[in-house]
Amino acid sequence: MSGLFITFEGPEGAGKSTNLQFFAAALRESGCDPLLTREPGGTPIAERIREVLLSHYDEPMCSDAELLLMFAARAQHIDRLIRPALEQGQVVISDRFTDATYAYQGGGRGVAVERIAVLEDWVQGDLRPDLTLVFDVPVEIGMQRARARSELDRFEVEQTAFFEAVRRTYLDRAAADPERYRVIDASGSLEQVAAAMHPVITQVLEHWHA
Ligand code: TMP
Repeated sequence: MSGLFITFEGPEGAGKSTNLQFFAAALRESGCDPLLTREPGGTPIAERIREVLLSHYDEPMCSDAELLLMFAARAQHIDRLIRPALEQGQVVISDRFTDATYAYQGGGRGVAVERIAVLEDWVQGDLRPDLTLVFDVPVEIGMQRARARSELDRFEVEQTAFFEAVRRTYLDRAAADPERYRVIDASGSLEQVAAAMHPVITQVLEHWHA
């Protein structure tokens, strides 16, 4: 594959989606037009699976069902959108990808990492993000921002301990592979976060122009 696959990650209320729009606009200004997408979702079928995942029910969703639905959506997303775009040499930016599964289903729900790794290999083959930005924010701040935003989905109603585990998992994964991950402090103003993203934008443009 000749394109570049970038993922944006972080707990609730880290400003990920706003920062993604800023990042993409900066690339466009320099003539690089990235494909923007998200998980769960990104294609009509995967967006239907997203609705199933985020809705509230009278019965709890068991963690294996949640995990498998995440990867069902991902399989469709990769097959229909991500892989074809990368094969055409595009820069693809996804708002969340498999790091979210390690953080939420692994860290948050307690699913064994080995199970996630099996599905990752099965569904993705050798596809892994080239670059992952982790927007880090203390859990209390993130939860306050998320609560102020809109009606809470099935993940956003979780308690502090769940989001502490999510955050810890992201930071541990980033620390284990500094080549791929960039941790961005997302607790400051939008201007401060934009400044922190600047070197990453430069790096992506250098790669793209090469
Ligand atoms: P969003 O709010 O960033 O659009 O993401 C939707 C929710 O889905 C968010 O609470 C995180 C959750 N999620 C997982 O639990 N596992 C995953 O693999 C992905 C991609 C998202």
